[in-house]
Amino acid sequence: MLLARRIVFATLRPNRSQSLVISLQHKLLTPRMTTVVDSVSSPPSGGASKAPEPPEPEVYSDRWEMIWGAGLARGERWDAAAASPAIVDLLRSGKIDVKGARVLVPGCGRGYDLPVFASSGAREVVGLELAPTAVGEARAYLQEVNAAEGAPAGDMRVEEGDFFLWTDPRGGDGSWDVGFDYTFGCAMQPNARQQWAHHWGRHVRSGGVLVTLVFPVNSEADPNVGPPFPVSPELYSEMLIPQCFEMTYKEPVPRELSHPSRAGREVMMVWRKK
Ligand SMILES: C[S@@+](CC[C@H](N)C(=O)[O-])C[C@H]1O[C@@H](n2cnc3c(N)ncnc32)[C@H](O)[C@@H]1O
Repeated sequence: MLLARRIVFATLRPNRSQSLVISLQHKLLTPRMTTVVDSVSSPPSGGASKAPEPPEPEVYSDRWEMIWGAGLARGERWDAAAASPAIVDLLRSGKIDVKGARVLVPGCGRGYDLPVFASSGAREVVGLELAPTAVGEARAYLQEVNAAEGAPAGDMRVEEGDFFLWTDPRGGDGSWDVGFDYTFGCAMQPNARQQWAHHWGRHVRSGGVLVTLVFPVNSEADPNVGPPFPVSPELYSEMLIPQCFEMTYKEPVPRELSHPSRAGREVMMVWRKK
């Protein structure tokens, strides 16, 4: 499907793709005066919303790199400058055991969640990032973590790649014991969600675990406006159950375990791949 979309892109008239990129550049590179956590682009103001056209893969990739390349500081937009307290709590509570596991974290951004898995005993934790600048930022962050006292023993690294196309060079498809999805599923265009679920099914091994921290849960928001696109536990079930995932845990995240701007809008779900 992606290949087909790439071919379609290649046959577009150049002025259409150029104008898409230019309009995205204009939208995304407009300086912001305030820090806006959780937002990638501003929702349109007023008027009835129209479902956006799906981005072509190249434009979509450029878009993330444009944001990172423009200089995304720690604590800006979706970057919370820290790991999710909810995943820290889930691992500490022993509700899932990642000792000795290989863990995949796609769309890891600066990689704040990677050390959480490594310090809970994971053997290998890999962050996968599409945007080259994000890869550099995440590697720099992991260097800081590794240089600090009490650095986790597990191997942590960041790979550059597209979740939809990438295959684990070490173990191949279906070799990950654990996957963690946070602010990644909601970054997908709604029409890419089935593909998103399909590729989770491809990456996680049979008997493995997928942890989805579902955000932003907001039934009143326009489902076509994002990212982050509003999501729900029901939507995740609809997408993941056909990919052989069965739900083993579902709990709304208590307010004190969310980054403050996300409180009340997160649900932790854990899945086991049959
Ligand atoms: C909303 S950000 C969240 C980053 C991180 N999870 C966090 O909470 O800070 C989504 C990230 O996914 C990356 N991304 C988007 N599409 C991707 C893809 N197909 N494969 C890998 N990474 C992707 C983007 O570059 C971006 O850094």
